[in-house]
Amino acid sequence: MQDLGKKVIYQIYTKSFYDSNGDGIGDLRGIIEKLDYIEKLNVDMIWFNPFFVSPQNDNGYDISDYYQIDPLFGTMEDFEELQSKLEKLGIDVMLDMVLNHCSTEHEWFKKALAGDKEHQKYFYLRPAKEDGSLPTNWVSKFGGPAWERFGNTELYYLHLYDKTQADLDWHNQKTRDELVNVVDFWCKKGVRGFRFDVINVIGKARELVDSNGENERALYTDTPVVHDYLKELNQKSFGKYPDSITVGEMSSTSVENCIKYSNPKEHELSMVFTFHHLKVDYLDGKKWTKIPFDFMKLKQILTKWQLQMATNGGWSSVFWNNHDQPFALSRFGDPVNHREKSAEMLATAIHLLRGTPCIYQGEEIGMIDPEYDGIEDYVDVEAINAYGELLAQGYDEAQAFDIVKSKARDNSRVPMHWTRGKNAGFSHGTPWLRPTDQERINVEDELAHGEIFAYYQKLIALRKNDDVIACGGFLPLLEDDEKVFAYVRTLEASGKANARKILVLNNFFGEKYEVRIPDEFCGKCRVVISNYERDFCYLGEVLSLEPYEALAVEI
Ligand code: GLC
Repeated sequence: MQDLGKKVIYQIYTKSFYDSNGDGIGDLRGIIEKLDYIEKLNVDMIWFNPFFVSPQNDNGYDISDYYQIDPLFGTMEDFEELQSKLEKLGIDVMLDMVLNHCSTEHEWFKKALAGDKEHQKYFYLRPAKEDGSLPTNWVSKFGGPAWERFGNTELYYLHLYDKTQADLDWHNQKTRDELVNVVDFWCKKGVRGFRFDVINVIGKARELVDSNGENERALYTDTPVVHDYLKELNQKSFGKYPDSITVGEMSSTSVENCIKYSNPKEHELSMVFTFHHLKVDYLDGKKWTKIPFDFMKLKQILTKWQLQMATNGGWSSVFWNNHDQPFALSRFGDPVNHREKSAEMLATAIHLLRGTPCIYQGEEIGMIDPEYDGIEDYVDVEAINAYGELLAQGYDEAQAFDIVKSKARDNSRVPMHWTRGKNAGFSHGTPWLRPTDQERINVEDELAHGEIFAYYQKLIALRKNDDVIACGGFLPLLEDDEKVFAYVRTLEASGKANARKILVLNNFFGEKYEVRIPDEFCGKCRVVISNYERDFCYLGEVLSLEPYEALAVEI
């Protein structure tokens, strides 16, 4: 078993990391050129977004060949070189396995289209209803119906995402065997980390029926069979390697299911990514809305998940950012007046939780959402569809743009800012997505005189060196406080009468704030980390926190 609590994952969106050949798209050789930067962070594993062969309709999440590197990003030799250089640095590779669906350009789909009955069973093909309407009323997560005509036949195929991403039918043993072969191929190449894309939607109900508008997700999410399929995948592929680490991306899931997915006794996955805590700026649960985030809800969700996962042997990857989310600093911090302090506070709130932290490229230098002025700047199919749907709902162009700007996935997909120069030092060509703000935020200046990167280094070192952070339990504190997210990490220390305790306080707002410290925590203490360089050894009844202050003390 891996010591998951001592590890930190770094996510690289290859397309936007560093472009070595001037075509405007980041590539594997670009990552190799930046290894000295990555080394400085001292992370344990890098999750790479998919760089397999793909028509790129959903930026690589539409895979047409699971066994090859897309020439856009490089060659298999480049991958092997990157892998061996990372190994020398003690960094493992985590590959992104998109097994819920494949591209309609994949040979399985092409064979199915050509009439091959065996391959037709790899997909969900259904006839229209008697009245001629689509097989079910399900909607695609990227907008529009979830069904598309299967060539010029009378059938339709299911796509929960883009129409070029056909859902694979996992009920078919042959499909599952093919997918086991994919994972096994990469295991044999020495890969030990896998992130499984939207893995909890692989088990659609056997009979596909209309939703009543409310139960749609339940018809294909977290069904009991997902657990069976994961156990099988584990046993036949990565589970053969005791040092493997897996994380499942869970869409609209429940804590009960996540405990099962990640409890080692179940032999499914090592950990889960969940998103409830990021939906606190959604109006009525809808993504394409714009409202300030609900701090109390954020606290409640993080607390609930921490407690229940800990009590029941589950394990989460803890994170704010990824390639599907706008930068957390733009959502929950103050990038204008308190960029550094709010970036550090957010990092502290997440990194000291129980779980395995995952850092998304750029957050360690305090990157923020780009300043685009028109919908033409966005590339993502989801953003473009959403803009059209908002207009159709009656929003005017300015309103629709304002909403898209606040939620688009392109926000975090913006190229990494390396320098303040042209194209943020990302590419000699024209970047596929336009960087903005690089004069203010870039790696070169950050390493020379910024404080965020150095603070991340401290948080990462803490996780490796402090067992309370790595393996301790979680207790909520000051649950009703409307400004501070506070919690306690605890660990029974062998041979000592009292458990070790670390108190973590995060002021989520831009004003000074006096927080009341419960009696049991007052007294002698040691500062574990602080983003205001605090140095004291006694905690009194009232502590005045600075704007966006984060502080952890051992009591
Ligand atoms: C996951 C990926 C996202 C992708 C979707 C469909 O949510 O993170 O980028 O579009 O799955 O594969």
